[in-house]
Order: sequence, then structure tokens, then C-alpha cells
Amino acid sequence: MLQEPNIINQIIARRRTVKPENYSSQPVAKEVIVRLLESARWAPTHGMNEPWHFVVFTGDARQQLADFLDKWYVANTLPDKFNNHKYRLLKTRPIMASCVIAICMKRKPDTKIPEIEDIAAVACAVQNIHLSATAYGLVGYWSTPAVTYTDEVKIFLGLAENDRCLGFFYIGYPVQEVKKGNRTPIEEKVVWVV
Ligand SMILES: Cc1cc2nc3c(=O)[nH]c(=O)nc-3n(C[C@H](O)[C@H](O)[C@H](O)COP(=O)(O)O)c2cc1C
Repeated sequence: MLQEPNIINQIIARRRTVKPENYSSQPVAKEVIVRLLESARWAPTHGMNEPWHFVVFTGDARQQLADFLDKWYVANTLPDKFNNHKYRLLKTRPIMASCVIAICMKRKPDTKIPEIEDIAAVACAVQNIHLSATAYGLVGYWSTPAVTYTDEVKIFLGLAENDRCLGFFYIGYPVQEVKKGNRTPIEEKVVWVV
């Protein structure tokens, strides 16, 4: 039986969100991306629904995503809410990352499993990707811009009406040492019933 608690504990604590403006230009090899996706499919899944579905943007295809995010923001943001800084990042981040994975949930027809449980399974799959990425020296960023929960994104990603986009996961190598994370002590979040 495999017993390597220190390794997994360290990877879990070391996993960090880093945004694409802090990625180096070093590309992520396709074999590594495939390995991360392999990790995704080992997430828990109620009823064996395996509801995860990923649309992977690499190379020139990243510009298609950038153009989509750009056009959606321009068309759907009121002039007084338009944030130039946010807009610039939204349309350039897909190119700054070597790879962007659209995180999707596909519902099985007639499934009895509540939707929230399929969403939870996809979130577990994303965590698997992020932990595997950490083991490869990569960082990631789960981004949920306003377009995430719209019908337009479903059309763009080829999703059906009952499916959902849950965001975009950016992956890259960090340019600098990754900062330590910060969390509330677990004692403040746990009630022991004994
Ligand atoms: C479902 C989900 C959606 C997120 N969406 C965003 C987002 O839109 N923008 C953002 O800056 N971070 C987003 N994050 C990442 C968090 O900001 C990040 O996890 C948090 O700052 C803690 O940092 P860490 O991941 O390095 O521990 C999201 C995380 C999750 C789980």
C-alpha cells in the first residue's frame, strides 16, 4: 500500500493561485497537460456521472478565447461599470498562459443526482488538476468572469442547455518564487462532537 502522507500534504499546502501575468514564457508540454487531465478523471463522482468536461485552449486557439472574452465584456458592460484594467487583463490573459482549460459540467440525461453534486464533482476534478500541476512545478488560476454563467459561453464552448461552464483554469510556470498561502487555523472551523 502506498504511504506517502508527507508528499501529498506538502503538495496540498503548496498549491497556489498565480495569475497569468506572473507566468514565464516557458510552454507547458502537451504530455503534462494530458497528465493533469488524467488526474481530473479520478475525482469522486456520485452515481458515476463523471460530469467533468474540459475544453482546452493552447497555441493559436488561445486567441479565440481572448477574442470571445473581449467581445463579451465590451457588449455586456455598461459604460459606468467599464473597467479598463480588468478589460485589458481579460483579453490578454489567455495569451499569457500556455494553456487555458474551460471548466465545464455536463449533465447526464435523466440523472437523479442533484446538480450541486455534479458541480461538486467537477470542483474536485479541478482540485486534482491543480494539485497535479503543483507537483509539476506549475501554478494555476481558476477564473470566473461574469461571462462564465451565461448562455453565450455555453454556445462558445459547445455546451447543452443543462450543462454549465464553471470558469477558466489558467496554467503556467511561475516567473518568481510562489508566495506562501494563508489560511485560518482549522480549530476555528471545526466542531468536534465527542
Ligand atoms: C470556484 C472558484 C472561483 C474562483 N474565481 C476567481 C476569480 O474569478 N478571480 C480571482 O481572482 N480568483 C478566483 N478564484 C481563486 C481564489 O482567488 C484563490 O483560490 C484564493 O485567493 C486563495 O488562493 P490560493 O488558491 O493560492 O490558496 C476562484 C476560486 C474558486 C475555487
